Amino acid sequence: MDVQKAINERRAYRSLEPVEITEKLVKDLAKNAQLAPSCFNNQPTRFVFVYDPASLKELHAALSPGNAWAQAASLIVVVFSKREDDCLIRDREYFQFDTGLATAFLILRATELGLVAHPIAGFSPKKTKEILGIPEEYKVITLVNVGKHSETISPVLSDEQVEAEKKRPKRIPLNKFVYLNSFKKKNKEAHEMKKTIFMTIFLLLTFATGQNAISHCQIPCGIYNDQMRFSMIEENILTIEKSMKQIVELSKKPDKNFNQIVRWTLNKENHADEIAHIVSYYFLAQRVKPVDSKDAPAQKEYLAKISLLHEVIVYAMKAKQTTDLAHVEKLRSLLQKFHKLYLGKEATKHSH
Ligand SMILES: Cc1cc2nc3c(=O)[nH]c(=O)nc-3n(C[C@H](O)[C@H](O)[C@H](O)COP(=O)(O)O)c2cc1C
Repeated sequence: MDVQKAINERRAYRSLEPVEITEKLVKDLAKNAQLAPSCFNNQPTRFVFVYDPASLKELHAALSPGNAWAQAASLIVVVFSKREDDCLIRDREYFQFDTGLATAFLILRATELGLVAHPIAGFSPKKTKEILGIPEEYKVITLVNVGKHSETISPVLSDEQVEAEKKRPKRIPLNKFVYLNSFKKKNKEAHEMKKTIFMTIFLLLTFATGQNAISHCQIPCGIYNDQMRFSMIEENILTIEKSMKQIVELSKKPDKNFNQIVRWTLNKENHADEIAHIVSYYFLAQRVKPVDSKDAPAQKEYLAKISLLHEVIVYAMKAKQTTDLAHVEKLRSLLQKFHKLYLGKEATKHSH
């Protein structure tokens, strides 16, 4: 198997069936991890390979409830290290980075051997240290659960975990984390967004001072679907609402649910950004046009529209900061108001 294939085939599966663990396999995995690079060749990574059934059973006590599936692992590789064992360059501490690299090598080799090797953070480091006799000064970084992938879905999985068995969880697109030559250039879009918000404020001020406002069009104009944009914003609001409720619910047991809490929070962020994007790039930049400053009624309506749109951006931002459902309601009411003003009629009610 080549590296590309191993990278593609590696998955954090949770439905595991037993596999024979031999000393030969353990040495093979360890030797591959050993070849990973490390700062000054410090090699700070330490592993305990736990595969004797009685020791495994003991270690299960350290797993978080949400990781009960890992009890089916035939081997748990306990990965630990300490900061003093690797480069400390001012505020840069390399021990966790180098341990991650070595663990990635081990995981890829296990994948090549047809095994699942699933790292987790949901465990108690304190219990792990007690059970295995790892000295206090070490940091237990992850437990890598090794087994054979089972086609039969583990009965202890949550709906979301079952979903992840069938389909690899989504990745953020390259343009969200890859920058070519400079970080600044790639951030142009965020910069554009700030510019648009600035432009809104500028337009409000322009109105106040009675000067003519400037309009601009960012894509070739002429193809518009207003109703679709309203529906998209409604959908985004609905998703933010669901995310907030999920975050509140899951936060009752943060240890067990931390992974899902992070995912729902990211989901909320993305959908709030989507609203701000539609408002800025579609409605403000292209659809709501400045009017003759001497035409007082037209100016009044124009100001009302851009004020509402500005508020939508502000409340989309507030929805990112908290799980306060009042922000969701405010977004809905602002959207309704804008819909009425912009299209001259109430929006059709959607069930949610
Ligand atoms: C540091 C780390 C901690 C993780 N913790 C957990 C965990 O506690 N429980 C779990 O089920 N999965 C855990 N995962 C697995 C991720 O959820 C998984 O890698 C991610 O959803 C992407 O899926 P994929 O690896 O199948 O592509 C962890 C992964 C990493 C790298």
